[in-house]
Amino acid sequence: MGQGRPPGTGVVVRNWYPLPVAGSEAGGRVFADLMRLAEMVEAGQPGWTRRVFSPEYLRSRELIWELMGSAGLEVRRDPAGNLIGTLPGTAPDQAALILGSHTDTVAGGGRFDGPCGVMAAIEAVRRIRERGGRPRRTIWVVDFLGEEPNDFGISCVGSRAAAGHLSPEHLRLVDGGGRTLAEALAQMGGDPDRIAEARWPKGAASAYLELHVEQGTRLEEAGRGLAVVTAIAGIHRAEIRLEGRADHAGTAPMAGRSDALLAAAEVSLEVEQLGLRGGLGVATVGRLELVPNSPNVVAERATLIAEYRSGDPSWLSATDELLQEVVSQVPSRRGVRGQLSWLSREDPTLCAEELSSVLLASAREIGEEPLQLASWAGHDAVQVAAICPVAMLFVPSRGGRSHCPEEWTDPQQVEVGTRALAAAVTRLAV
Ligand code: GLV
Ligand code: MN
Ligand code: MN
Repeated sequence: MGQGRPPGTGVVVRNWYPLPVAGSEAGGRVFADLMRLAEMVEAGQPGWTRRVFSPEYLRSRELIWELMGSAGLEVRRDPAGNLIGTLPGTAPDQAALILGSHTDTVAGGGRFDGPCGVMAAIEAVRRIRERGGRPRRTIWVVDFLGEEPNDFGISCVGSRAAAGHLSPEHLRLVDGGGRTLAEALAQMGGDPDRIAEARWPKGAASAYLELHVEQGTRLEEAGRGLAVVTAIAGIHRAEIRLEGRADHAGTAPMAGRSDALLAAAEVSLEVEQLGLRGGLGVATVGRLELVPNSPNVVAERATLIAEYRSGDPSWLSATDELLQEVVSQVPSRRGVRGQLSWLSREDPTLCAEELSSVLLASAREIGEEPLQLASWAGHDAVQVAAICPVAMLFVPSRGGRSHCPEEWTDPQQVEVGTRALAAAVTRLAV
């Protein structure tokens, strides 16, 4: 039984998974929804790629709209391109309970990072309605636009707007093709001129719950099915531009070159060293662009993105300073000019204890004893935390693999997460 889409072939294997999931038709439903969404991928891209501003992502959200609608949610798209499904409560004076995550992927990504939380949230609402209930508290299910980093250098576009943190400067950011973020948003059905209206009014949200795959091995190693997240690492991202000089790769002597690629290589190794110090954080260069990127030309320009993460704000700010030193010293040794600009700097986020206790009790109610874990991956919950208390549930990721085609969570594990989420929704809203 194959469990992966062969990289780069554009071939999607349909319905290879067993349905219904043992003992639970409802569980099979969430997984079937996940696999339906997984068929909507960018042709010619590796893995299960559905990047934020791709036509496939836009098309895939018609499916999310349909699933939300058939679950009984009133669906709308806000000016930031978020899809919001509302199940009105019987007590309109009570602030809404929000459930959400994202359905975009990284290039070459998998099928679970993001969609798992959206599908489980839709299913939680279905189950409430199937029990014949109407919640006391209004419930929103949100598919946030573009959680993963994009060509404009930012992540969490939709949740940032909901928090009121998507600024006019963000909207003016330009991608490699000269398009602004505002233009890209409009192509996704958003309305950048009305972006302020995407901000959730103060007091509108009582709490936010997000189910997500762990993207690590801690649950698998402990043999547990669920974790309640205690905190989410802060992430700092900086763009580093290195300006050297283009020269003929044959005729320019080795001495005296200003090679931007070699400066980028040295900067990247220094970034690795920043992550190796002290065990309190991780640091990565995952993106590098070269101009002219030609085999017989010494690189004139290199642009890279350095990102680092930690649960410790003082480690992050010390790393900011060290990175600035690296950029001011390392490239100049090669006659290359270095310039750093910050793309984003998020502090670590604490999940709300009272809300995490509800998740803990809900997990125990369905017979699970969850781990309590900090998240090293970023989530929409970080942005939402500016508006209301947030809490998260993790389900296992096989082998800890994520942001790659092998990303996998068993149908039964998805079902356990969905049941715990639904139990928490019942406690908080019904
Ligand atoms: C989101 O997937 C992140 O942690 O980068
Ligand atoms: Mn991700
Ligand atoms: Mn995610």
